Amino acid sequence: MSKLVITEVHGKVGLIRISRPEALNALNNEVVDGIGAAIDGFEADENIGCIVLTGNEKAFAAGADIGFMKDFDYMHAYKTDFITRNWERIKTTRKPVIAAVAGFALGGGCEMAMMCDMIFAADTAKFGQPEIRLGTMPGAGGTQRLPRAVGKAKAMDLCLTARMMDAAEAEKAGLVARIIPAEQLLDETLKAAATIAGFSLPVVMMIKESVNRAFESSLNEGLLFERRVFHSAFALEDQKEGMAAFVEKRKPAFRNC
Ligand code: CAA
Repeated sequence: MSKLVITEVHGKVGLIRISRPEALNALNNEVVDGIGAAIDGFEADENIGCIVLTGNEKAFAAGADIGFMKDFDYMHAYKTDFITRNWERIKTTRKPVIAAVAGFALGGGCEMAMMCDMIFAADTAKFGQPEIRLGTMPGAGGTQRLPRAVGKAKAMDLCLTARMMDAAEAEKAGLVARIIPAEQLLDETLKAAATIAGFSLPVVMMIKESVNRAFESSLNEGLLFERRVFHSAFALEDQKEGMAAFVEKRKPAFRNC
């Protein structure tokens, strides 16, 4: 495991901290591979029901590492499958991932936060896609996920002017699920993650998959997918327990979480 990526287990929650403070957590291969390895570990760990990805108080991540990629040529970027090779592990995990963002989430940092299932932002968070200032463009989903999250107008504004958006604007625009005072960010995110991890894991995974489907299909296709998955939930022992507990006015004891 890379020393630039620290993992901790908090009950049923797996915490991944990006720890490269001297470079504002800029994302080089070592960091991104480390995040992927941490996700592999938590995915395989039956005790873990939710994952939190965070940075430090100054930066979630200030982008892909500029020094690392500045001399890439086309052939190198293409042959090594830059970005696709390792960044997208976050997107493929079946367990929910919450990004806890304080300080800068810029370029690849903003894109990595958007690969997570939701973003909790400290009141200090700043989001942006400033790649245009470097003579390049977002390459880890910024031009695709940002418009889906905040709409075309604001996505164009951020990507074309390189300006940053604060936490309040990001929440209003729909990029951020919650704003939390910076000093409580991690505790509050871990609490929400523990709530999720306390539910039935198969149901959590069904919901995650179904919500993500909303972005990849027409409404009718998405509704059909949801209905099929909803019907299959009647096969779960946790569904029997959850509904029986409600009727019997007691707390459910889920067995698959
Ligand atoms: N890559 C490499 N190093 C970075 C970095 C990055 N993305 N962002 C910050 N750093 C380094 C700085 O070089 C500096 O290192 P030194 O102390 O060794 O000089 C250190 O982190 C601290 O940074 P600053 O001194 O610049 O801190 P600041 O508070 O004055 O400014 C900032 C903060 C506005 C975030 C500024 O660092 C900045 O603009 N960073 C670059 C942001 C950016 O352009 N991100 C997009 C990268 S491209 C990308 O991500 C492509 C993609 O889509 C995948």
